[in-house]
Amino acid sequence: MDRLKIGVLISGRGSNLRALIDACAAEDFPAEINLVLSNKLDARGLAHAEATGIDTVVIEHDKFPDRESFDRAIDAVLKAANVELVCLAGFMRLLSTWFVETWRDRVVNIHPSLLPAFKGIDAHAQAIAAGVRLSGCTVHIVRPEMDAGPVLVQAAVPVMPDDDEDTLAARILAAEHRCYPYAIRLLAEGRVKIVGERAEDQAPGSTAATLIHPAIE
Ligand code: GRF
Repeated sequence: MDRLKIGVLISGRGSNLRALIDACAAEDFPAEINLVLSNKLDARGLAHAEATGIDTVVIEHDKFPDRESFDRAIDAVLKAANVELVCLAGFMRLLSTWFVETWRDRVVNIHPSLLPAFKGIDAHAQAIAAGVRLSGCTVHIVRPEMDAGPVLVQAAVPVMPDDDEDTLAARILAAEHRCYPYAIRLLAEGRVKIVGERAEDQAPGSTAATLIHPAIE
């Protein structure tokens, strides 16, 4: 099987990276991680990647005069590692239009809300403040605008009345760890076609009944 070669970009904890590493460990998973790249020397995810024998590289953004020169350095390293798909997993840098267009339709991101709701870094707090009953996560193709682009996979989770940011984040994170590997599988198996701002897929639709929260009595 020819596996899709992915590069994972992180800045911190790396729990989504870990979910991708675990998925790639299965023989029938159609992707493999060629490189983990961090813009932070102390990103916790680096140690886990190294422990599993994956190549890692740190490129610190603050060593570069501007966004694009940093992005050009990342681009060179990804290409040297034969990366075909870039996966942002808690990567806390906005990529330049130059990078996103160079890698058009080949950069994916995971965000802890049901996009297009609650873009930005404080998605959980925004969901709680808005009083929504459902939030969730989104895996999407990256466009130059922050947290925008064709949606690949989403999962909805309830927002409970006593949730704080941490409890909601933990509930969403569990869904993230299932959605990200699944989105990569869809792409790697060629089951998704990006048509303008929509991702059209041949994957089966959800068979679950409509999710209503709170439950209707
Ligand atoms: C996740 O919640 C992801 O959705 C967001 O940043 C967080 C990264 O967590 N983009 P981790 O580093 O993967 O644990």
